[in-house]
Amino acid sequence: GITRHYKFDIKLQKVTRLCQTKSIVTVNGQFPGPRIIARDGDRVVVKVINHVQNNITLHWHGVRQLRTGWADGPAYVTQCPIQTGQTYNYNFTIAGQRGTLFWHAHISWLRSTIYGPLVILPKRGVPYPFTKPYKEVPIIFGEWWNANTEAVISQAMQTGGAPNVSDAYTLNGLPGPLYNCSAKDTFKLKVKPGKTYLLRLINAALNDELFFSIANHTVTVVEADAVYVKPFHTNTVLITPGQTTNVLLKTKPHFPNATFLMAARPYATGIASFDNSTAAGILEYEQASNSSLLNKKKIQLFRPVLPLFNDTSFATNFSTKLRSLATTQFPANVPQTVDKHFFFTVGLGLSPCPQNKTCQGPNGTRLEASINNVSFVQPTTALLQAHFFAQSKGVYTTDFPSNPPFKYNYTGTPPKNMMVNNGTKVVVLPFNTSVELVMQDTSILGAESHPLHLHGFNFFVVGQGFGNYDPKKDPASFNLVDPVERNTVGVPSGGWVAIRFFSDNPGGYDCLQEILRPKRSVWFMHCHLEVHTSWGLKMAWVVLDGKLPKQKLLPPPSDLPKC
Ligand code: C2O
Repeated sequence: GITRHYKFDIKLQKVTRLCQTKSIVTVNGQFPGPRIIARDGDRVVVKVINHVQNNITLHWHGVRQLRTGWADGPAYVTQCPIQTGQTYNYNFTIAGQRGTLFWHAHISWLRSTIYGPLVILPKRGVPYPFTKPYKEVPIIFGEWWNANTEAVISQAMQTGGAPNVSDAYTLNGLPGPLYNCSAKDTFKLKVKPGKTYLLRLINAALNDELFFSIANHTVTVVEADAVYVKPFHTNTVLITPGQTTNVLLKTKPHFPNATFLMAARPYATGIASFDNSTAAGILEYEQASNSSLLNKKKIQLFRPVLPLFNDTSFATNFSTKLRSLATTQFPANVPQTVDKHFFFTVGLGLSPCPQNKTCQGPNGTRLEASINNVSFVQPTTALLQAHFFAQSKGVYTTDFPSNPPFKYNYTGTPPKNMMVNNGTKVVVLPFNTSVELVMQDTSILGAESHPLHLHGFNFFVVGQGFGNYDPKKDPASFNLVDPVERNTVGVPSGGWVAIRFFSDNPGGYDCLQEILRPKRSVWFMHCHLEVHTSWGLKMAWVVLDGKLPKQKLLPPPSDLPKC
């Protein structure tokens, strides 16, 4: 592989959307941010220079970061933030991955404006396992606020209530013609008839899962989270924040007398209010230049029909269609046995209002979110650094519970006590353990689909179901042959999902006694709905030392920011 250098200047840029202009934090003044392109095997070096008042970190979502945990990016987990005036070089190698991923800010709500596609091409000469596309087009979904998103979340955190919802969704940063005064801010995909296009769909929205559809066209899903899947046709794609989906779009054989809208709008259950608007773009067929005599008739506009906002049966159906290719060339190395089993409840919760404050949660409480009733408290120094310098005392504890503190009917009436516990707790895993994790949605303050994202690993989605997970019955129906392999999975609203993975990524380095040796690593896991992350629906896994994949050893970067 080669080394690809990028320079990311974090700076303010004035941007107008929905007829309002505001200054947003950007990379190089671009919104959405620049596209990173690399090949499997390449090293990527991104020099990040922070010119703004906000602290910043960047995350390369879905990149496994074998041996380079220092470059992973979640603030206060693998690194301290890059402060105003500071520079940090993210330096990592793409090893055995190809497909569509993305990069985004990983601190507070800056992801709302700092994100971009990360396209990994296969090694030179290695073809796709599907028709070679005529063109490849990233479409990155986002969410737009007229207000400053940092102010939106800090106000919510201060009052304990729910943050304001967004004002629009965007396709490649553009809301499109269904919003007031946005017609000129419309993403247009110009296509030729009779060709195959590869659309690299990325959901970078902060808080909403999205349905996406193109009027009068079906697409073929070929990849999810940068792993090939068995192709299937669909009119609509469901994509959660943190997920990426590659689809093939075969255009109509002849120039149609029509223009087609493509649209994205939310899939949402359980929450009282959400942005129920629709982003749209235009699929426009290019006419041959000498065909101006044709098509004198008025061009028709077709709109897609999208599922209802709470169509959980569509969501379930869609996710069960996703299967790994599981061929000799692209095997699915599903753990067949389990060394460690975990059962995590994921959902909302409450905490008491601090004295002499008023809080806007139910009955004057604060809104929280938790895993196994632990709402994660962000430490003031990075977990990985604390590890490295053997100073974990006072930073985190290793007693994250493997099971919920008490049993109840998770999908029925919520328990009387809905208060969460607070803590900075991690699970410690030996190297190369086969892990099974069942995540159960709870009905506390409403059943809701939570897109859980795991850093450092892909996992296999071996099962899902509704109601309470039954450890006696449900494992019998697990798919251990061709389950989809991904990095972000929606825990179904009112149900559960089971995943398996090997803890085969021990991450960074230890240079004690001047010997470089692999050092245990810290991998974040959290709901990719940013509001739930803010409320504490997050935790971390510590993976202990182990024998390594063949990677060149690198010392911890000297420019790693300090807290
Ligand atoms: Cu895309 Cu921890 O995030």
